[in-house]
Amino acid sequence: MKQRENQYPFLRACRRQPTDYTPIWLMRQAGRYMKEYRALRKKYSFLEMCKNPELAAQVTLQPIEKFNLDAAIIFSDILIPLEPMGVEFEFAKGEGPVFHHPLRGMKDVEKLRIIEPEEELSFLMEAIQIVRKELEGKVPLIGFSGAPFTLASYMIEGGHSKNYILTKSLMYQDRPTWDVLMGKISEVLIRYLKAQIRSGVQALQLFDSWVGCLSPRDYEEYILPYSQKVIQGVGKKVPLIHFATSSSTLLDLMREAGGDVIGVDWRMNIAEAWAHLRYDVAIQGNLDPVILLASSGLIEKEVKRILNSVGGRPGHIFNLGHGILPNTLPDHVAALVEMVHQYRSSKG
Ligand code: CP3
Repeated sequence: MKQRENQYPFLRACRRQPTDYTPIWLMRQAGRYMKEYRALRKKYSFLEMCKNPELAAQVTLQPIEKFNLDAAIIFSDILIPLEPMGVEFEFAKGEGPVFHHPLRGMKDVEKLRIIEPEEELSFLMEAIQIVRKELEGKVPLIGFSGAPFTLASYMIEGGHSKNYILTKSLMYQDRPTWDVLMGKISEVLIRYLKAQIRSGVQALQLFDSWVGCLSPRDYEEYILPYSQKVIQGVGKKVPLIHFATSSSTLLDLMREAGGDVIGVDWRMNIAEAWAHLRYDVAIQGNLDPVILLASSGLIEKEVKRILNSVGGRPGHIFNLGHGILPNTLPDHVAALVEMVHQYRSSKG
């Protein structure tokens, strides 16, 4: 078993071991840019698909069947564990998530439940088991969750936010409530991620998508202890990718919080980010998803620029800097995957 796991380029790169080519997967690789996904979405809502193990497994495998990707990521959403915690939301058409009763103070936070993921989110655990079986060892499966800050921000703002004023106000002005909230989320995430490992995921990604709105000092004071608690609580059984956007000033602190791989967006130079981290973690990224809308010539130029800057150092996982856009052409995804695989192998 150990031997086998060690043969996957994606898992080897997570551990900074050499690979024959640079492994690649894409955030949101299952989704609306694929006609196979859109066809299913005509029949089911997004949450119906997440909560049905067979459908979630089927959607997870759609991009794997079509492209030469080096990892699958289980089809779900970072918001899925919030519902059993007692936070209701829906995906309003064209708006993203909308929460009916955003958290406002200690009274709301005290009501939040610590969940039993294997029972209350059994659909996800079943989906993981189905995908592992169907993959037959073809590529490893990534599980994921939101990170404490990003989840807290949805619960407090009631949806996506531009300036995170409500979240930061609670953080600055009501420290006891902030600590109880972050403590509860962290406890849920440890249980949730461990349950995903027990169900069969071979790597994890922690999405702290919106934490880049904070100063390094505030990250250190209000976020780091909780992200660190989650990562340490989950343990070292599988490699963990710690991802954020707009995080160039937070890199050291994110590494301190933990993770075998740091995921970066396109706003920074990936080679500089890695050098800054002194190469003692692996690095993931960082093509701007908008580049995938351009011509294949431009895509190739950017791919080469990224791969040349990293210089073939073991421990680079190619990805976008954030999720793939719904209007991306599948042919461009296929071309991207081939470029990333070919370019390194022709060099080495
Ligand atoms: O990467 C993958 O393919 C796995 C699936 C996945 C989804 N969401 C599917 C999805 C993952 C890993 C996520 C993570 C997620 N969800 C994040 C963190 C990553 C990021 O993008 O920053 C966040 C912030 C969310 C919350 C969320 N879910 C939002 C804001 C939205 C609406 C925005 C949008 O793109 O419409 C979603 C919906 C969502 N999650 C869709 C998919 C495929 C679209 C649903 C649909 O209408 O079909």
